[in-house]
Amino acid sequence: MPEAIPDGYPGRVARSREDDVREAMHELPYGIYIVGSTANGRPSAMIADWVMQVSFAPRLVAVSLENDSTTLAQLRANPAMTLNLLKQQNNGMTLAARFVQPHRASKVRGRSDAAAGREYDKLDGVDYRTSDRGCPILDDALMWVECDVQEFVPAGDHTLVIARVLDGEVVSSGDPLTSTFTGWVYSG
Ligand SMILES: Cc1cc2nc3c(=O)[nH]c(=O)nc-3n(C[C@H](O)[C@H](O)[C@H](O)COP(=O)(O)O)c2cc1C
Repeated sequence: MPEAIPDGYPGRVARSREDDVREAMHELPYGIYIVGSTANGRPSAMIADWVMQVSFAPRLVAVSLENDSTTLAQLRANPAMTLNLLKQQNNGMTLAARFVQPHRASKVRGRSDAAAGREYDKLDGVDYRTSDRGCPILDDALMWVECDVQEFVPAGDHTLVIARVLDGEVVSSGDPLTSTFTGWVYSG
């Protein structure tokens, strides 16, 4: 294991063990999903990649959500959720990029008061229908499932949302959009 290079060494940037660990974590591959929820009859959505199946019987999935995300607050109020796996084809990366802004602009550090007051409707201009329980199903998803949230498990600065799968289908063929394909990093 190379030793950390001392600060101030000419022409070199000091690396710490923490840098090595973060870099290793960045290699974890993920699928890119749009998590759908609904509040007061209005569907909304966020992009997330910390998503996985965690049980066969019952069929359960888990999603890890930032403790201050709007989506988490909505799921606590109304436990209906869809997961839409995006695909590489049909400009899936462009579609994914529409969801990168948080609903509340104030979630992004360093914004002016005026900019921080904005709220984005990430579904504006996106083609979708709603599930039986009112959550968005994207026309350009590779597949979707609809879930009933069963449990919220605290996990550091995130909350693990565990949900039972009620319905779902493959929408169209294609290759899943992944963190490896996009190069976007949400890890470390
Ligand atoms: C590629 C990518 C993956 C992300 N994955 C997650 C995730 O797994 N969990 C999470 O809470 N936020 C994730 N985020 C960040 C959220 O989309 C973002 O912070 C947003 O604030 C949460 O949305 P909301 O507040 O509008 O509900 C990811 C962002 C990007 C760009």
